[in-house]
Amino acid sequence: MSERRARELRECLNAASLAYYRAEPTGLTDGEWDALLQELMVLEAEHPELQTPDSPTLRVGAPPADGFDTVDHKQAMLSLANAFNAQDVVEFDRRVRERLASQGIDTVSYAAEPKLDGLAVSLLYEHGQLVRGATRGDGRQGEDITANLRTVKRIPLALAGAGFPDTLEVRGELIMPRSAFDHFNAEQLAKGGKVFVNPRNAAAGSVRLLDSRITAQRPLDFFAYSVGHIDGGAMPGLHSEALALLGEWGLPINPLCDKVTAAAGCDAYYARVVAERAALDYDIDGVVFKVDRLDWQARVGQVARAPRWAVARKFPAEEMTTELL
Ligand code: IVH
Repeated sequence: MSERRARELRECLNAASLAYYRAEPTGLTDGEWDALLQELMVLEAEHPELQTPDSPTLRVGAPPADGFDTVDHKQAMLSLANAFNAQDVVEFDRRVRERLASQGIDTVSYAAEPKLDGLAVSLLYEHGQLVRGATRGDGRQGEDITANLRTVKRIPLALAGAGFPDTLEVRGELIMPRSAFDHFNAEQLAKGGKVFVNPRNAAAGSVRLLDSRITAQRPLDFFAYSVGHIDGGAMPGLHSEALALLGEWGLPINPLCDKVTAAAGCDAYYARVVAERAALDYDIDGVVFKVDRLDWQARVGQVARAPRWAVARKFPAEEMTTELL
């Protein structure tokens, strides 16, 4: 009886959060939401075994941990090679085409995305439930920050819909929106707390706190940008389609993600994002181009820590003027 009620409450609250972030009607007033969450908290307090990994009660954080466990990434979390101008991208595209030339391929489509300036994290879903969250660390081993990542409201605790692999690792960037950062820093200053130099440091500092109840108070956000290890299921053969599917399952996908063709398409995308950059409420430090076909990515391969099938075209470093008072 309690078990069934706990499941109903979890499903209802998780569906309402997803609807809220999709700007769809949640079907619940704020008061109803609070009452249902309260009911679930009471049930779980009475029957701790009813608290599942996707319980929305975990959003408030957990008592402080002694430290973080180490996590082995089943698939290394790579970094990106940089391009600093249009010519570097022309050369990147030429190298990609050369590696595919034996297949008679002469035009390549790329997934084009903003390069978000935050912190890379990995989310592991087992049967649709978020069971582990980790930092990138050195790419092979990171830190287990599950309790902290569960407090990030836009990270689904349970995937929506159906058809996801039994094991699905999602990778993406944890960020703090600029407006939220300004507000947060002003508050910290007013109460004599720690202020951060930029949203990236604030996001990184917030997600590595041993007390996830404090992380829960920080205005963090997340965008998924790739799929890592999967098991017991399949994903589409195009990176862009895989991202769209992650979006259907409730993961936030950046609205600037697009698809372009050849170096000329990459250049036009770069210009478009440069034009939109100032109006964005989060920091980006460039754009990323990824060979869209996953079988072609495999053929193009990787060197050391970076794939040869992707490149980050960085924005020129911003010139800042500091007024000395
Ligand atoms: S893909 C194999 N996509 O850039 C490619 N990374 O230098 C691995 N980043 O640590 C990453 N936005 O934190 C990818 N749209 C995006 C990204 C992105 C930001 C960061 C990521 C990674 C670093 C790589």
